[in-house]
Amino acid sequence: MSSQPAENCELTQDERDLLFYESRIVRPVKMKVPEFKRNEHLRHVIFSRQFSVDTLEYLAETADKVRMLSKQRSGQDFLINLLHHKRAMLYFTQPSTRTFLSFMSACQILGITCNEVRDPSTSSETKGETRFDSIRMFSSYFDLIIMRSKLAKLAESCAYLMNDLEVSGNRSVPIINAGSGADEHPTQSLLDIYTLQRTFQFTEAGSSPMASRLHELRQLHPELTTGLAGKTYGFCGDIGRGRTVRSLASLLAKYEGVKLIFIAPDDPTLALRDDLRHRLQDRGIAISEVEHFDEIVDGVPVIEQLDALYMTRIQKEHDSPAEAEKFAQIDLSRYKLTRGLVDRMKVYAPILHPFPRDQHFGEIPPEIDNDPRAMYFRQARNGMWIRAALLASVFGVDHQISRFFEQQYSEWHHYNEDDVWAPSLPKGPLRP
Ligand code: NCD
Repeated sequence: MSSQPAENCELTQDERDLLFYESRIVRPVKMKVPEFKRNEHLRHVIFSRQFSVDTLEYLAETADKVRMLSKQRSGQDFLINLLHHKRAMLYFTQPSTRTFLSFMSACQILGITCNEVRDPSTSSETKGETRFDSIRMFSSYFDLIIMRSKLAKLAESCAYLMNDLEVSGNRSVPIINAGSGADEHPTQSLLDIYTLQRTFQFTEAGSSPMASRLHELRQLHPELTTGLAGKTYGFCGDIGRGRTVRSLASLLAKYEGVKLIFIAPDDPTLALRDDLRHRLQDRGIAISEVEHFDEIVDGVPVIEQLDALYMTRIQKEHDSPAEAEKFAQIDLSRYKLTRGLVDRMKVYAPILHPFPRDQHFGEIPPEIDNDPRAMYFRQARNGMWIRAALLASVFGVDHQISRFFEQQYSEWHHYNEDDVWAPSLPKGPLRP
């Protein structure tokens, strides 16, 4: 990293540091994934494609256990003692509410102490410190770095930095990407998948596993099955700049027989980007790109065929003046949900949104919030549970959670067969 090629002499040290990792960054993801693991366990979390379908199932089961243990004082006490010897740095130099707070809450559930740097103007970066020096300093004081940056490849580069430090016998800690430029947001896709997993169990809280809604829904939709495979997913809005869309679409592509429909303006900034389109096509995924909900795909208007709809915000804070002018000519009202559109959706199809929604644009008006398909607030809460499961897995205490859960459940079940939450155990009915 210290050598400075002549042609790079105009670059800042931050830019040179990123270039240093370029040859590793350009490799195919399947070559990188083993480097982000230790002994078959997740270590660094950088891309959504790191998660296999089995890992997603396992994390969801762990999240369900954390969720249920958290309802009881004894469960809370157990969880909070699991990682109370660990410290996490939340290095968030881009705005964040949910991701930041849900990571912080997830840390608190497991007893991890959190510290934060959110405004680089209060850090030594204003004195000329590079981001890589900052990260290495964080790794001296903390056991985990959770980071969000406008730089697409910074988190990935930091994972390589940590691996190099490990090889040279220095202190090295896991890196978790909490949003990197317009590129990836792997932990958002975890909570999106977790919400879909719970929704597509088609069960109601408090009912017995036998009283599944699936039977009732099959009267209307005879082909309906549980699980994420074989379903049609719609993504609407700012597809081009939506890192949550990129991470989630890449994960959904791992499920058999899915169909993805992108509803976005036909504009190079806002529409599906070539790299993601090619990646999905290479995996043999059926994709369609349309400009509005009423377009016909396979003989049916898009809005009527979706099994789930993922709405997004138009990220106008990234507009250049020329783009702002160009977008003013586009009819963006097509990328807003209305009561009429929701009424035409399948009765079980969840509406998701990574949030924040834009009150001025109004992609999801508040009148939709009470619709049973509006899943976005539960989706955000799911983020806390699945992130706790992820942290437990990264620190290798996931098996302790399972053991304690099984032991507790057998006791609770033994002492109170009618316990209100006893029926809502894993594989039983869980509301999203
Ligand atoms: C999103 C993000 O920051 O990528 N929000 C989130 O993390 N939940 C989406 C957005 O800002 O529109």
